[in-house]
Amino acid sequence: MGEVDPAFIQALEHRPKNDSIEAENIPLIDLSPLINASNADDLARLVAEIGNACENWGFFQVINHGVSSESREKIELASKKFFALPKEEKKKVSRDEVNPFGYYETEHTKNVRDWKEVFDYTVQNPTVFPVSHEPDDKELKEFFNQWLHNLPELREACEEHAEEIQKLGFKLLELIALSLGLRKDRLNGYFKDQTSRIRLNYYPPCPAPNLTLGVGRHKDGGALTILAQDDVGGLEVKRKSDGEWILVKPTPDAYIINVGDIIQVWSNDKYESIEHRAKVNSEKERFSIPFFFNPAHYTWVEPLKELINEQTPAKYKGYNWGKFRTARTRSNFKKLDVVNLQI
Ligand code: SIN
Ligand code: FE2
Repeated sequence: MGEVDPAFIQALEHRPKNDSIEAENIPLIDLSPLINASNADDLARLVAEIGNACENWGFFQVINHGVSSESREKIELASKKFFALPKEEKKKVSRDEVNPFGYYETEHTKNVRDWKEVFDYTVQNPTVFPVSHEPDDKELKEFFNQWLHNLPELREACEEHAEEIQKLGFKLLELIALSLGLRKDRLNGYFKDQTSRIRLNYYPPCPAPNLTLGVGRHKDGGALTILAQDDVGGLEVKRKSDGEWILVKPTPDAYIINVGDIIQVWSNDKYESIEHRAKVNSEKERFSIPFFFNPAHYTWVEPLKELINEQTPAKYKGYNWGKFRTARTRSNFKKLDVVNLQI
């Protein structure tokens, strides 16, 4: 263990295995029926595939998703350029106590330090941000993106990628709504003043990849995550059927989608938010770019009325998304979980 700071060392039961299970990959879904005007049967098949993947895995990959490979290459390149800069340079855009957007290298998941560096970009328009009149909204007003003047391509790439990836987010939201037997646009309104973000993750090579993790096991707190992982791979997903960790094999140009806690609550547990983690590597650096698709901060999240009745009562109390997220960030994922809101 001598080679790495003990803060990074995972407890024995949470360390990654050398030989992750690769035999089965998460479902791969072709979204081309959405892009090409297809017939009703193709669309119905697609909706069923999405529903099955959400129910059985909580995770799936999509291809023919409509996001241009130019926008993806551009953000991947800009991210590499940013993380290759000297630390002093990156620290000029550090996040701080007030503003959670920018660069950071110290993050803990479940009290163990993650082997990574991060840059967070908010998609939300600050002028629409504080909408409720709660006293602690003052702090939320301070959110803004931070840029290095000598790397204008990072800003351009984030803005362009956000535009494209949001379109995919809305398409997936519609497919998920249909798969739950809801109106196609049932969920869209919650995202009018969305609080989504793009995260650039950089996992440097690690001398002790068997003891540490790039990101420790966790569930995503938002609605949907749309992740671009590079060809190194390292994302592991907890298989619902037996609790084994499955390594998600990189598929070129695909995006990995997972259902977050909000969809778990909206669907009243039909679709569960699944634990995942990221392994690191002794030789190669790894980059990943999640887009966290999140509703407006004033959204009241509760099981959707259409999905509850006398036989299937609501399993959760409602909560305010903005407050939940702020408290969750501050608690460093230790305490706050939708499980605490179960009835
Ligand atoms: C995460 O879930 O936060 C990151 C996953 C990855 O880097 O693959
Ligand atoms: Fe995650």
